[in-house]
Amino acid sequence: MCGITAYTGKGRALPFLIQGLEKLEYRGYDSAGITLVDNKELVTIKTKGALNALKEQLSTLRLDQKAGIGHTRWATHGIPSNLNSHPHTNASNTLSIVHNGIIENYQSIKEGLAMQGYTFVSQTDSEVIVHLLDYYYQGDMKATLQKVMSYLEGSYALCVLNVDEPETIYVAKKESPMVLGMDESSAFCASDIPALISYTKDMISLEDHQMAVLRPGTIEIFDQQGQKVEPKIIHIPYDLEAAQKNGYDTFMEKEMHEQPYVIKETLRGRIENSIVMPELDSIDLHEYDHVYLIACGTAYHASLYAQYLGREWMDIPITCVPASEFRYGNYIVNDRSLCIFVSQSGETADTLAALKMCLEKNAMTIAVSNVLDSSLARLAHIPMYTCAGPEIAVASTKAYTTQLVLLAAMMVKLAQNSGYEVKDIDQFIYDLKQIPNLVKKTLEKKEIIEQYAKLLKDQRDAYFIGRQLDYVNVLEGALKLKEISYVHADAYYAGELKHGPIALIDQGTVVIALATQKEVAAKTISNIEETIARGANVILITAPGIHSEKIERQIKIEAVHPYLSGILVTVLLQLFAFYTAKEKDCNVDQPRNLAKSVTVE
Ligand code: G6P
Repeated sequence: MCGITAYTGKGRALPFLIQGLEKLEYRGYDSAGITLVDNKELVTIKTKGALNALKEQLSTLRLDQKAGIGHTRWATHGIPSNLNSHPHTNASNTLSIVHNGIIENYQSIKEGLAMQGYTFVSQTDSEVIVHLLDYYYQGDMKATLQKVMSYLEGSYALCVLNVDEPETIYVAKKESPMVLGMDESSAFCASDIPALISYTKDMISLEDHQMAVLRPGTIEIFDQQGQKVEPKIIHIPYDLEAAQKNGYDTFMEKEMHEQPYVIKETLRGRIENSIVMPELDSIDLHEYDHVYLIACGTAYHASLYAQYLGREWMDIPITCVPASEFRYGNYIVNDRSLCIFVSQSGETADTLAALKMCLEKNAMTIAVSNVLDSSLARLAHIPMYTCAGPEIAVASTKAYTTQLVLLAAMMVKLAQNSGYEVKDIDQFIYDLKQIPNLVKKTLEKKEIIEQYAKLLKDQRDAYFIGRQLDYVNVLEGALKLKEISYVHADAYYAGELKHGPIALIDQGTVVIALATQKEVAAKTISNIEETIARGANVILITAPGIHSEKIERQIKIEAVHPYLSGILVTVLLQLFAFYTAKEKDCNVDQPRNLAKSVTVE
């Protein structure tokens, strides 16, 4: 996820570009840059670090150019560095581009261009675009861009600046957002509405495979065949603050709704007919005696999920431990241990300390992080990344579900590498590909969840129960609820209810029960009935084919492989926590006493 701005007009471009990047910093903040064009000359200034670092460099310069492009980066390929920052230019400094998205086939394009004598200065996938444009350009940028688009696989929102047409910005889009706007004397675009809203409330949302040509006071849109199409104008009825949250009241809500997109980005290039993870090609679990999964908080729950899958598919001991416990426990770690660390930030103190301990003991280490080049990713032997983009709300939502899909794919890959047969693998992979769409459909169930959340309005406690894989999901559901609504929420194995917790069930107690795993669903439903007999208000989440007549409040997830049901259940439980917190008037994005990144022990 990155942020793009572009401007061409009668006024100075720089103020527009910078104000836009400020509004888009939520999309990325590890580096920033601009290119301005004037008198057939491109001026590019870019730097590692937050936007302030760029602004400081610009502060001493007088830059009056009337067209330019800007970028704020959330690294996916190549560490945050000056060279990897956007814009990227060609060798003769006549073309400059900014890109948001992931070019999946950049390696093969890069090899082809290298054979034609092109040299690359960055580690990014994006740089191939500018050299490909350079290779094909013969004076007609529209035709060139059209051709380049046909070669690019993956996702892109893209702006091109060209010295031959200093007043024109070419824009292209596929699966990454881009909005456009204009007034009588200028035209502009950006990755998201907040960057434009101070300039116009009437915008054009570019569609996939479309191209746009921006000139002062005009915008032309073309389809894939190069035919001109009529732009569809959308009116944005809200103000800047709402726009930064994409019209949502809170970042948490916005981030929950981003899940279909970021899950797709995380899996992009990772699933063909089988799982594509060349980083793991060399790992054969027969070379290890033990696999450890180590993490904190929500990432620990994601690790429990991976542990469950691992145990289903392999016969090697797999142990999942919270990092704060692992550090002080007597776990056997040596050069025959494979240790997998999971952390959104990649900076959590306990997780990092546990990683360092394992490195000292010569273990093989893998880091799953959402932040490119985080401390965790840098230290581990094999860094792997989720592509959730920056998560602003303290309660983790999209970072968690992207961890679930990446870990699911990793577990398949590790099992297959090591010669284990994964039952139902074709169905599992097929359904994994469907997850973005299924999450989207799950989010559409929010009205019913909103209704159910009212049950907790005057309650202080809630109990979550489930068996097997559903137990992992109740842990995360209970954590989410307590984090943001301050309802005391406990998660129990459904079979353990009778051994104590049932003493707490009384008239009106809220019980959230999960029964999505066919083999054990009937057992859980019996446990639910025991709570109903004691006056509980039960909300039951099941999968197609599982039903209980006696339970009034039921919600079914979409049909999916049972090992993937937890992702859909999680989305429902996120919504449940969210609406409960709203009902109780809590600060959803910044709950009391919590921090997004815990860098102290
Ligand atoms: C904090 C956050 C949680 C997060 C945990 C681990 O407690 O509030 O949302 O799950 O840290 O963070 P990490 O960045 O390592 O995933």
